[in-house]
Amino acid sequence: MRLIFLTAFFLFFSATLFAQAFVPNYDESKIPPYILPDPLVFNSGLPVKNKTEWEKRRTEIFNLFEKEVYGIAPAGKVHLTSVVVSKNENACNGQAVRTEVLLTLQKDDRKIDLSLLLFLPKSGKKVPLFLACNFNGNHTVSTDPGISVTTSWVRNNPQVGITSNKSDESRRGSDSSSWPIAEIIARGYGVATVYYGDIDPDFDDGFHNGVHQLFTGIRDSSSWGSIAGWAWGLSRVMDYLEKVKEVDTKEVIVLGHSRLGKTALWAGATDKRFAMVVSNESGCGGAALSKRIYGETVERINTSYPHWFCTNFRKYNNKEEDLPVDQHELLTLIAPRPLYVSVAEEDLWCDPKGTFLSCVAASPVYQLLGKKGFPGKDMPDLQQPVLGTIGYHIRPGKHAINLYDWSCFMNFADLNFQKRKN
Ligand code: GCU
Repeated sequence: MRLIFLTAFFLFFSATLFAQAFVPNYDESKIPPYILPDPLVFNSGLPVKNKTEWEKRRTEIFNLFEKEVYGIAPAGKVHLTSVVVSKNENACNGQAVRTEVLLTLQKDDRKIDLSLLLFLPKSGKKVPLFLACNFNGNHTVSTDPGISVTTSWVRNNPQVGITSNKSDESRRGSDSSSWPIAEIIARGYGVATVYYGDIDPDFDDGFHNGVHQLFTGIRDSSSWGSIAGWAWGLSRVMDYLEKVKEVDTKEVIVLGHSRLGKTALWAGATDKRFAMVVSNESGCGGAALSKRIYGETVERINTSYPHWFCTNFRKYNNKEEDLPVDQHELLTLIAPRPLYVSVAEEDLWCDPKGTFLSCVAASPVYQLLGKKGFPGKDMPDLQQPVLGTIGYHIRPGKHAINLYDWSCFMNFADLNFQKRKN
């Protein structure tokens, strides 16, 4: 009897373990045959023939992404107030002014605070600006001792001494290699950043904290997840930037890396005020095609990060073929605005090739709108950026955002903003 029980227990235990083990596919020959939805064909099957028709088709695609992937952000408005809390007139060796601004978003009797960090070149002119969330708090992006240490929830990381979900002084400047602020300033761009955990702490709490708590409506399977929350927060920062006289609001670039690269794409799709979008190594649920089933999959991402998307997205766990959209269509929602997508050779989890194919498949929409789109149909060599209205590079190395990436983003922005002025 005992033996039967032990055997049954062993079988159950190993079956459970087996069910949980996820082995990503990194073999091109094992990619299932797949058909990408055509962004230039209406849901009805009719072709999209011109710019006016594209706007209607865009709405169809947008609605599908809202309902089935990221979730719908509430339409209600919040009241925004701002207070400058610190200023360094001599940041970046005297080349920039660094400001910290406390933004408060209020809805009825509920409110949240976002701490915005802003570096602006002392050019005396309106400047183009990169707006991006950061992963670990504003104090981690620069060694400037005047930047406040975040008091918001941060993920524990015992290796660096974070054990009670609080950051501290020791983390100052720890992410500065991802934020080459002096170089960005030297090229005439401003940088604005906000800690993504201020907008919505990155853990599954049933949406009781962060921006979600501002809206009290009943949630359903298409309600917004965290990515939509972070993107919405970036739009509220844009509301503030529109009032900053040194910022050229027609040249605000929304940028993000990894989960924040997914966020940047959704922010660009939801808010046309972002004149350009940069998405670095955004992978699954970002710029990479889902239907290739290469690297991270829909089931995997919904399991590891159940709060990132709306719950409808879970319908496509292990059923990517049923998805009514794929991520190339997310890219089309940014058209005709310039879009730059970048990947790293060793970051297979993010599917560099699937990201490239996504750019290729988004290109016809740009072309219909009279833009160059994405030139070429072959993967470029390492560090050979493709520069159409959609730009792309693959660089050697791992999952990260570094000075090389930023240099390419700025080259691309120079090119496109120059074109706009000519
Ligand atoms: C994980 C996750 C990715 C995400 C990345 C990040 O690797 O699986 O989808 O992009 O974290 O944000 O760092």
